[in-house]
Amino acid sequence: MNQLRRRICVCGSINMDLVIETPQLPKPGQTIMARTLREVPGGKGANQAVGAARLGAEVQFLGRVGSDAFADRLIDNLRKEGIETESIRRTPGASGVAVVSVEDSGENSIMVIPGANGQVTPEDIEEGQWIIASCDVVVVQFEIPMPSVLRVIEVARRYGKPVLLNPAPAPEAIEPGCFQVDLFCPNRTEAEAILGNTIDSIDSAKFAVSELLSRGPQAVIITLGGEGAVLGGRSGESNRSDHQIEWIPPLPIVPVDTTAAGDAFMGALAYQWSLGAPLKEAAKFACAAGASAATKPGAQPSMPRIEEVHALLERANRS
Ligand code: RIB
Repeated sequence: MNQLRRRICVCGSINMDLVIETPQLPKPGQTIMARTLREVPGGKGANQAVGAARLGAEVQFLGRVGSDAFADRLIDNLRKEGIETESIRRTPGASGVAVVSVEDSGENSIMVIPGANGQVTPEDIEEGQWIIASCDVVVVQFEIPMPSVLRVIEVARRYGKPVLLNPAPAPEAIEPGCFQVDLFCPNRTEAEAILGNTIDSIDSAKFAVSELLSRGPQAVIITLGGEGAVLGGRSGESNRSDHQIEWIPPLPIVPVDTTAAGDAFMGALAYQWSLGAPLKEAAKFACAAGASAATKPGAQPSMPRIEEVHALLERANRS
């Protein structure tokens, strides 16, 4: 495997997460006493960028922040993580904000107000095409407008760059162009929303992988949280996979906060993909990164470093 420092371009959202820690979520109409409110850098795109950078990738970011007090803090934080932020545009108005409620069980629920993320245009992507042209892997999610997501895929294909699409949050409708990617990585809820199927077993997840593969991506991974992940590649077309649909069991961890575990998974997957790892190897590594993130609070602060991922994999191999 090529161990050079590889370049990853992440196109996506940057949010300030307003994190509420609470014993449990309120029911409709109920008032409850929560414990704490913290401001933590987040956003699916930015989290995935930090995830890849902490593992050792050189990361460049395409996106937008607003003109509010959060904007500088969000950009400064990405810079401190070593991420190239020159192509993040500032737009008048609010930056993206997410209200994240974390229960004692570690489960979370999130409401996102897109702010500047909703202003990312296909023209922004064209202007940043030099970044896409010079990277090894492109990563994109659904927290920027769909025409911009489609333009990312189009520009990446123009330059022959592999695209990893994380269709999160779950879309109301999905454009066929979204399947023209190298790796399509939804979680269970997103895969259910896209296919209209229920995924309630490993077998139904495997069936969902085959259904998604038939729509066009070269490879698919569905993450199942505490139940691991299921993956598969298109027969005869992906040289990263042995064309089987397989289950990867979960790693033994005690979750503290599952916020951004999926983003840690994507950042790690992009890092592994940029190094040329086979699909299954990349997915196992990414599962460990996601599991590690779930053992720590917050979005970007929970992204693991490479030593933590290796330590978790070694512990799992010994048990
Ligand atoms: O995936 C977790 C992220 O989703 C949070 O950081 C929040 O900002 C939302 O984008």
